[in-house]
Amino acid sequence: MTDSADKSSNAMWGGRFAAGPDAIMEAINASISFDKRLYAQDIRGSRAHAAMLAAQGILTDSDAEAIREGLLTVLSEIEAGDFPFSTALEDIHMNVEARLKDLIGEPAGRLHTARSRNDQVATDFRLWVRDQCDAAGHSLDTLIRALLTRAEATADWVMPGFTHLQTAQPVTFGHHMMAYVEMFARDKGRFGDARRRMNESPLGAAALAGTGFPIDRFATAEALGFDRPMANSLDAVSDRDFALEFLSSASICAVHLSRLAEELVIWSSAQFRFVAMSDKWSTGSSIMPQKRNPDAAELLRAKIGRILGASVALFTVMKGLPLAYSKDMQEDKEQVFDAADTLMLALAAMTGMISDLTVNREKLEAAASNGFSTATDLADWLVREAGLPFREAHHVTGTLVALAEKKGVDLPDLTLAEMRSVHPAITDAVFGVLGVHNSVASRQSYGGTAPDQVRAQIARWKQALG
Ligand code: ARG
Repeated sequence: MTDSADKSSNAMWGGRFAAGPDAIMEAINASISFDKRLYAQDIRGSRAHAAMLAAQGILTDSDAEAIREGLLTVLSEIEAGDFPFSTALEDIHMNVEARLKDLIGEPAGRLHTARSRNDQVATDFRLWVRDQCDAAGHSLDTLIRALLTRAEATADWVMPGFTHLQTAQPVTFGHHMMAYVEMFARDKGRFGDARRRMNESPLGAAALAGTGFPIDRFATAEALGFDRPMANSLDAVSDRDFALEFLSSASICAVHLSRLAEELVIWSSAQFRFVAMSDKWSTGSSIMPQKRNPDAAELLRAKIGRILGASVALFTVMKGLPLAYSKDMQEDKEQVFDAADTLMLALAAMTGMISDLTVNREKLEAAASNGFSTATDLADWLVREAGLPFREAHHVTGTLVALAEKKGVDLPDLTLAEMRSVHPAITDAVFGVLGVHNSVASRQSYGGTAPDQVRAQIARWKQALG
């Protein structure tokens, strides 16, 4: 390469950077701007490690005591907001250790014995994600309770059930709320499953191969609330499946939240008016005085994209990595942090919206009665009471729907004579199944929309939640 070629290629990429290559390296390499969120976990892990080193005779008791005191000082400095975080020190691990050195001197240098930043970061991050699984579980409990309260008050409020967003059969509003209770309870179960699986300690795996020091990984695992140490040191430092499981659980939960948010947006529109969002969760329009926009539900629906995006991002980071640690894995944290923050915000917003919702019973019932929503009940009656094969009953009902449509009335408004003109086996008793209340009351199959069934499910969940 000639000198001039060298210069021009440097100019090509160097021109937009005011800073020199060292500063650029620091910008791409340092993680302290975000991994400082792991300070409490980092200090907790270091305390457990130091105590174990002392118990094993690897550290003197006086060094271990100095380290313990020093780490508590670092913790209180960070918590008080007067810790001098340094980008030059790259990450939370080195920031804490450097400050410890300032505070206690030489013993600080012994803390990293039989440990690497690789097992350290894996430990810190597991502890953090484990807390998030618990937090998500608690937030889901609160949301489920809000839905149960709603469902209890509306167990027999009839509304149209939809398929293809076309009126299908009447259901109750309580039944609809309880569908989400089932979904969110499964979400909670997924966070619990992920937590159980991730609850093993990577600490002591060291860089990748374990260590020659006589450490006690069971002791540090126990001190940190893990069930046991991870059984393979390469796996311990190189997998982030626990973060992927958290993001996957969060993604499924996010999709459930988004669907409910979408329903709130539809239901609060002028065309539906099934519900009114409280002022707390809506905004007005600066130009159209009549508007009340369901902003919180819309934003919740949109923010879900961040969670799905984080999940795709981390899967993409991980998919090509050879064992063991690669620096790529530093990219795990911002995704998980953002997804966790977004999920907690979305769960809290949904709980608030559900608690403050006004449900319009009359609108729901009027809509439920539209669109021949009890046609299936009529067909079922013809099978049950008149002995028709279902296919024929379906045909007869179709003819009756066409007749009602032509007359501009609903099925229960047809006269018995009109009905019998279509099929002579029809009797007065048919009116007992027409009408939305009869319809829902008849759906007594387990898990069906009959108010008794809905109430039974509410009672079951209330008992399960205690
Ligand atoms: N900041 C790093 C991370 O988040 C810590 C581990 C660094 N390990 C190393 N060998 N450079 O992944």
